[in-house]
Amino acid sequence: MKDIIIKKFAEVFGDAEGAEAFFAPGRVNLIGEHTDYNGGHVFPCALTIGTYAVARKREDNKLRFYSMNFERLGIIESSLDNLEPDKEAGWTNYPKGVIWAFGEKGYKINCGFDILLNGNIPNGSGLSSSASVEVVTGYILSEMLGLGVSNQELALIGQFSENNFNGVNCGIMDQFAIAMGKKDNAIFLDTSDLSFEYAPIKLDGAKIVISCSNKKRGLGDSKYNERRTECEEALKAIQSGMGINSLGDLDEEQFEQVKSVIKDEDQRKRAKHAVYENQRTIKAVSALKNNDIELFGKLMNESHVSLRDDYEVTGEELDTLVEEAWKVDGVIGSRMTGAGFGGCTVSIVKDEAVGTFIENVGKAYKDRIGYAADFYVVEIGSGPCRL
Ligand code: GLA
Repeated sequence: MKDIIIKKFAEVFGDAEGAEAFFAPGRVNLIGEHTDYNGGHVFPCALTIGTYAVARKREDNKLRFYSMNFERLGIIESSLDNLEPDKEAGWTNYPKGVIWAFGEKGYKINCGFDILLNGNIPNGSGLSSSASVEVVTGYILSEMLGLGVSNQELALIGQFSENNFNGVNCGIMDQFAIAMGKKDNAIFLDTSDLSFEYAPIKLDGAKIVISCSNKKRGLGDSKYNERRTECEEALKAIQSGMGINSLGDLDEEQFEQVKSVIKDEDQRKRAKHAVYENQRTIKAVSALKNNDIELFGKLMNESHVSLRDDYEVTGEELDTLVEEAWKVDGVIGSRMTGAGFGGCTVSIVKDEAVGTFIENVGKAYKDRIGYAADFYVVEIGSGPCRL
């Protein structure tokens, strides 16, 4: 891949003198959905697919971006002197946002860049192609300008840019999973204080299969921010009688005792999901540590039901993928992953059932939804690197 992207860089930008190549992964969340902005736990892992990049410093303040995924857009140009979100700038608002965020955090960006990207994460699939672009951009800046920014800080800067430049109030999960990824491990992260531990994923005789609904969604225009506000309102109601910092501070029993103070029924359902999902995530990680993969799978299934019925972020496409997956012998667990409203599902499938899984779920999906889903057997990879 390195040769291909360097060659393309030379083609697009004249030559590749002084250009360097980098990579940042995508991510999939195994369990712990919509808990990261509620002070709860998440359990994502980085993937071996992601965003490849070639970058070169410039002698002026120009920023020139080119994506092999959007070739017809050609070179998109902007400048360090004009770092503002701009609809016309399309995907380049993500790298631009990170460059802006570095400045906001006090890092001096003293030259422009030519940057070429080539991602192999299915676009809009919910595997965090945008967070991957953010982290690779931050990694390029840190490495090429010798800023020595830690990977954890890169995650925080990526989230800051997404929140404040691109207007999506996302939590820290995606950028953290990508920046801190470790081969063959998932990350058990407590989003209330960013303490985390790596948990080896040893799926003897099983695979992680991603089913992509091909229903496009953009977080910005989805109901993501609305769900976040509903949780904040529910938290405020609980805080009127109880000193907690976030919904993640409650266990199921405590929630059942206080839930009647949340008067709005939708808000109560959202909060219930946040509390139960956090507890499910803690239980799932301990099941994994006990080598109880069956229990882990059962908790994944419960997670989906809660996202469907209480959090209401699934929709017909994701529900079809998951409900058809549950029918296949050899499926240990299956649920939607990421923000929802389209995107993809994650399933743990026994090796011998992967073929049947793809065939059966694929056929049922096409029959019911009218277009095809895509399937990827994925592997857990590491964080950003220089190639
Ligand atoms: C998106 C956000 C994350 C997280 C998930 C839902 O991926 O970027 O911060 O909230 O949705 O778990």
